Amino acid sequence: CNTASIVSVLRCLRRSLLGLWTTFSVHRCSIPPLPAGRITTLEALDIWKRHFIVKGVSEPEHSSSYIIAHVLGAKTIESVEHDKLSQLLGQDKTGQIWQLCTKRLSRMPVQYVIEEWEFRDLTLKMRPPVFIPRPETEELVELVLSDLKTGTEVGADTQQTCLEVGCGSGAVSLSLLKGLPQLQVFAVDQSQDAVDLTAENASLNSSYNVEYKQRFVFSARETLYSLCSPVTALVSNPPYLFSEDMKSLEPEISRFEDLMALDGGEDGLNIIKNILSLAPQILTTHTHPQTSQHHLGLILRLSLRPRYCILQKEKSNKDLQPNMDRGAQILLHGL
Ligand SMILES: C[S@@+](CC[C@H](N)C(=O)[O-])C[C@H]1O[C@@H](n2cnc3c(N)ncnc32)[C@H](O)[C@@H]1O
Repeated sequence: CNTASIVSVLRCLRRSLLGLWTTFSVHRCSIPPLPAGRITTLEALDIWKRHFIVKGVSEPEHSSSYIIAHVLGAKTIESVEHDKLSQLLGQDKTGQIWQLCTKRLSRMPVQYVIEEWEFRDLTLKMRPPVFIPRPETEELVELVLSDLKTGTEVGADTQQTCLEVGCGSGAVSLSLLKGLPQLQVFAVDQSQDAVDLTAENASLNSSYNVEYKQRFVFSARETLYSLCSPVTALVSNPPYLFSEDMKSLEPEISRFEDLMALDGGEDGLNIIKNILSLAPQILTTHTHPQTSQHHLGLILRLSLRPRYCILQKEKSNKDLQPNMDRGAQILLHGL
């Protein structure tokens, strides 16, 4: 009985407990009775939207429409032909809708219920407890891509490489590869579930230039250096919530997502500090003429708090001193 088998037993146990929790919590909620006769898609949408509202499930319309569109083989309800919405559903489709909407009643996020989600132009497999990519992270990908493309344009003839710390489902790494197929990406995460899902999503999206490993950014310095050092960019959407704020998370998050994906410690900066101290040693030192000025850029988002922190390594600087508020996603790159 080695450590790997203990870990895999614990992961199985976690999944079974999650299944039991879902069944148990749904039994405590009433479920609308399965209709005796046949119903149309519009009627099913309405029954479940109203039921979610009564039961206090967040985003009731969004939830029922994504689930029902999924059962009909579509991405969104808007993309289903208008005539089809008023047609009667078969017993099998009605049964599937009831089964999936019942999972949503247990407050399982819709992304886990339908087991996939769109991120930029990728369809990614989703399963608990791996962090569900948030829409604002698409902007982080955009920033990294434009930064790396600038590096390519100015004629850097060396292979560009990127390390992502905390890859989750692979959303960021795989989107970078979709935008820049020649890039070499190294993706690490403390969670084996996340690393496995990144691997699955890489193969589903034919992204081959990615290596993924289970590593903790705290303790795996040496292996990170030997795995990929030096890298052109270091990117992360790290956990950044204050530990005390973890108590007030929505049930969708606290019951289903890996809390280590969110908890940034007492000051929210546990992982961020580690990434910042890793950066000067792991980033490349060659120079791109157009990016050689030292800069620390912060892009302010609607909340007027910095959401993205873009740092650039100075040629001889060992200490990066970012001016960063909470809630940061980080892009670091070498000169
Ligand atoms: C906010 S999630 C981001 C996931 C993904 N990049 C995304 O944007 O959808 C943070 C990720 O960091 C991982 N993580 C947390 N602590 C870590 C550590 N010490 N070392 C490596 N990864 C860590 C979590 O498991 C989680 O997958």
